[in-house]
Amino acid sequence: MPVLNRARPSDVPRCVLITGSTGGIGAALALEYARAGSETLLLHGRSPALLADLAERCQAAGARVVTKEIDVRDTTALRAWIEEVGDSEMPELVIANAGVNINTGPLSDGEAWADMQRLLDVNVVAAIATAHASAASMQKRGFGQIALLSSLAAWRGLPDTPSYSASKAAVKAYGEGMRDFLGPKGIRVNVIMPGYVESQMCRDMPGPKPFLWPADKAARAIRKGLARNRPRISFPFPLNLGCFLLSVVHPSISGWILTRLGYRG
Ligand SMILES: NC(=O)c1ccc[n+]([C@@H]2O[C@H](COP(=O)([O-])OP(=O)(O)OC[C@H]3O[C@@H](n4cnc5c(N)ncnc54)[C@H](OP(=O)(O)O)[C@@H]3O)[C@@H](O)[C@H]2O)c1
Repeated sequence: MPVLNRARPSDVPRCVLITGSTGGIGAALALEYARAGSETLLLHGRSPALLADLAERCQAAGARVVTKEIDVRDTTALRAWIEEVGDSEMPELVIANAGVNINTGPLSDGEAWADMQRLLDVNVVAAIATAHASAASMQKRGFGQIALLSSLAAWRGLPDTPSYSASKAAVKAYGEGMRDFLGPKGIRVNVIMPGYVESQMCRDMPGPKPFLWPADKAARAIRKGLARNRPRISFPFPLNLGCFLLSVVHPSISGWILTRLGYRG
């Protein structure tokens, strides 16, 4: 039963669009914003059953929910939807969250090109398409916020997940550039760099997973970081510091450290 007439704190966006909302972090974000007081959630996914279940839980927390099923690799359909709801629902916050991961395999055979292409299409092309289409309608209004899901893997390529690391570095660079480009036009852009967060993607990932966070804790940190308009929302602190330092030391030293830590490719 929806909770009616909720008070919405001023730092909680009225309407939020989330791609990949059926996954671990996306679903936690949807529930986080529903519970915080967002009035409308535009939830994207591919699985009708998962979307319906999530919509029900967000509605029970008091939010109105609109769902959309699209494969984000169909960037024409994705952009058309974002532009349509950009004008009709006017989301104040768009979170480009949909993503996939692949790895070099248990026998270190390496990544298959077809998988790499799919990963780049989802993690890079679709994420940038989401941000670009959102920016168009936000510029017409003169306000809005776009959050892009990068990763701590963007700091330094990991031998187990080279393509994933590269895709998240691309998203980080795009988000940083767009923040400075769109800031003067009234649009905030934020790069989110999580460490390990409980989700199917994380479970499927090889290698050690230090400082693993539950998805609801990550969603809370993301919402608070976005409310403060932090350019880079990276967590947890010790892993972020470690990954940042790996990016500034000589690559042969960071490679040696990663091997010693169990990242072997
Ligand atoms: N979990 C972590 O440790 C971690 C760390 C750093 C960054 N991240 C980033 O956080 C984001 C969310 O990841 P997660 O951990 O929540 O993973 P997840 O549970 O696997 O969720 C991924 C979401 O993306 C959707 N998606 C994937 N390919 C799609 C496609 N072609 N079309 C439409 N939707 C698609 C999935 O839908 P389907 O279920 O239909 O595939 C799902 O909703 C990703 O960008 C990820 O790279 C995660």
